[in-house]
Amino acid sequence: MNGKRILLIVGGGIAAYKACELVRLIRKQGGSVRCVLTAGGAQFVTPMTLAALSEQQVHTSLWDLKDEAEMGHIQLSREADLVVVCPATADLLAKMAAGLADDLATTLLLATDKPVLAAPAMNVRMWRHAATRRNVERLRADGVTVLEPDEGEMACGEYGPGRLPEPEAIVAAIRLKLAPAGKLAGRHILVTAGPTHEAIDPVRVIANRSSGKQGFAIAGALAAAGADVTLVAGPVNLSTPTGVTRIDVETAAQMKDAVERALPAEAAVLVAAVADWTVEPAGSKLKKRDGPPKLGWAENPDILAGLAGHSKRPRLLVGFAAETDDVVASAEAKRARKGCDWIVANDVSGDVMGGDDNSVHLVTADGVEHWERAPKEEIARRLADRIGDALA
Ligand code: CTP
Repeated sequence: MNGKRILLIVGGGIAAYKACELVRLIRKQGGSVRCVLTAGGAQFVTPMTLAALSEQQVHTSLWDLKDEAEMGHIQLSREADLVVVCPATADLLAKMAAGLADDLATTLLLATDKPVLAAPAMNVRMWRHAATRRNVERLRADGVTVLEPDEGEMACGEYGPGRLPEPEAIVAAIRLKLAPAGKLAGRHILVTAGPTHEAIDPVRVIANRSSGKQGFAIAGALAAAGADVTLVAGPVNLSTPTGVTRIDVETAAQMKDAVERALPAEAAVLVAAVADWTVEPAGSKLKKRDGPPKLGWAENPDILAGLAGHSKRPRLLVGFAAETDDVVASAEAKRARKGCDWIVANDVSGDVMGGDDNSVHLVTADGVEHWERAPKEEIARRLADRIGDALA
């Protein structure tokens, strides 16, 4: 972050104290920080604390700016390389989405011509409220990077998504935002990852052993190369890679819906281990005394094949194939059958499922490449690089 200037807008929430740690971390990495406190923010941290940590004057009111004759608020918003809103409260996000400018913070946000990154923190119900969902969607469409909040216990005692991401994660997102544009800058890429769960009854599901690690690593590597990544994830216990927009789903049908709603995309990498079959779930818990249930199996839609024939087919369509026998031959047949451009064939006969390494072959129209066994992150970087070349 050497020499990079961050304008930090601190909103009024209990997580505001973490903004102090953020100032410290940015400065430690060579960046400089100019802080603006909203009236709410000033209820949680004092201007003095932020001034001491940033070693710069802290601004709280539109009317304090000395150089209003020179349009001080415009200057303040433009002299930065990046504007960071942390914590971004539901109120601030709503004002930003609506384009309101009724105090210094919102005026700066409307006047800036610099990239904006918002780290939300609020009660779980506020985060999930239809109005907040709408505002976040609007802001993302306007080009604002809105980070996903963390999930966990909240200051109010409730549990769920809404906690401010850890300052280290916010710093990683800032670095990504400030990084010179990568090979995939501005390209929208869709990734699916993890298993799907098909319900049998309200307490039982049909699942598989996919950990989601490879798909999450690919989403992260694509984002690191500058892509605008939508990750549709089945039920997994992994944190969202920096810079990735994540949509959580449970079933194959939900995954298909989420994928189609995320179109158009320039490329799609379908890594998810989608359940091939589903059953009509019983409305109440099946009882043992009634004997083994007769599950009426039905085939799930094939998301990959569906995308191949879609009117908005991504320019590059990449499938995965987890195989235990005749790995390459099966993958070649699968590529033709599903109508995708590449298949990354996984030999899952060993400890690949859930493990940290992967052993793959890249099957394309030009032939087969055998890649050395490597950590899943390394495979992800290599694939992101190849995707960058293919879309160039
Ligand atoms: N796939 C999908 N939708 C499905 C099944 C699979 O999108 N309903 C995708 C996977 O994400 C993967 C590719 O298709 O990219 C291959 O998945 P795989 O399970 O290996 O293929 P199947 O068609 O299920 O073939 P089989 O089980 O016969 O090997």
